[in-house]
Amino acid sequence: MKGIILAGGRATRLRPLTSVTSKQLLPVYDKPMIYYPLQTLIDAGIKDILIIIAPDYSGQFLNLLGDGSEFGVHFSYIVQKEPRGLADAFVIGEHFIDGDNVTMILGDNIFINQNFSESIKSFKSGGMIFAKEVPDPERYGVVEFGPKQEVLSIEEKPVNPKSNYAIVGLYTFDSRVCQAAKDLVPSARGEIEITDLHKFYLNKGELKVNTFTGTWEDAGTFESLLRVSNEVAHFQKIADKKL
Ligand code: TTP
Repeated sequence: MKGIILAGGRATRLRPLTSVTSKQLLPVYDKPMIYYPLQTLIDAGIKDILIIIAPDYSGQFLNLLGDGSEFGVHFSYIVQKEPRGLADAFVIGEHFIDGDNVTMILGDNIFINQNFSESIKSFKSGGMIFAKEVPDPERYGVVEFGPKQEVLSIEEKPVNPKSNYAIVGLYTFDSRVCQAAKDLVPSARGEIEITDLHKFYLNKGELKVNTFTGTWEDAGTFESLLRVSNEVAHFQKIADKKL
């Protein structure tokens, strides 16, 4: 299993913070944001990790993270020249994936006290997404699923959601994802969409969903960035007391 952290993008919603650095290097309590998705991959036993970064501030990532030996893993880097969409990770990452299965995590998605190791380690083929029950599913990609966790439908920001389960920024695919991503046509907003990759596997009956209950934040806004910093601090204090 290879791992990819998608840490490019424009981060317009966090300006002016992101006028001088990348979103994924901003502090979340006591660590740079990217440490959290990185830890999620490491906890899942993934050792070979590609970090996709934007051209600006790419040197800052290298200075911070190096070759990965400090974390006991190996890092590769690719610069994504333009933010062409989340599915672009599998186009520019094709050579790195090299026929293996791959788990991709968004560089601004933070999971606290949540280990995905079991589902990722037992993944064989097809597509696998992760979903969490939320009070406001209409803000997210929403997944409807059957009793065996088989996906029945996926809708992007639906007005009338078919379930309360939001799809989070962690995805596992087999290597067919690379060709599928290359075949995608950009959407109306000009991006190649991860939802279309989900539909590629859904149409083959090969898309599964894993639900989880731990804390999840997309740290892409000022409110969520502040909230997740407070949540991390809170959980850390609890962990420290137990020591
Ligand atoms: P978004 O939050 O959708 O986009 P963004 O980070 O550019 O922020 P904004 O909407 O405020 O302008 O991206 C989700 C994650 O994926 C984030 O970590 C950036 C990353 N990303 C890329 O690396 N390349 C891309 O082409 C896109 C669309 C996102």
